[in-house]
Amino acid sequence: MKSSGNYLSFEDFIKGAVVFEQESAEYYHRMLGYDLKDTVREVVVSLEKDEWSHKAILQKRTGAGIQGYIQFPPGFSQEMPVMEADNPTVAELLSVAIDREMKSKDMYEKSASFASGELRELLEELATFENNHEYLLRSMKDYLA
Ligand SMILES: [Fe+2]
Ligand SMILES: [Fe+2]
Repeated sequence: MKSSGNYLSFEDFIKGAVVFEQESAEYYHRMLGYDLKDTVREVVVSLEKDEWSHKAILQKRTGAGIQGYIQFPPGFSQEMPVMEADNPTVAELLSVAIDREMKSKDMYEKSASFASGELRELLEELATFENNHEYLLRSMKDYLA
């Protein structure tokens, strides 16, 4: 992703966010290949659906010539937490998913603070969504523990 120092244009941010959302959808899709309890499976199905819809919502904003830059704090990485294990357990998948959701929420909250109008509302809405995802995943982790 292109950036100058700790600044990122909204155009580049949204392009990157489209990729994050796609990867999140794929992440949940991969979880569905595991032997999951029905209640857990239902949640993961809905998470995957949400991430595909976030991707579509953001994709509509690409190429629209959105002006402006987002200043990220030094050291803010655009990298998403990834699964390191080859054959992760469901608990490990949930832990990484929780980290990814926290990161997504921070990313949208931060970018919303630099946006205005309709774009700001959209980014705030996405931050709320990702926050709810984190909450759902934490509940599942407790339920499975
Ligand atoms: Fe999302
Ligand atoms: Fe999410």
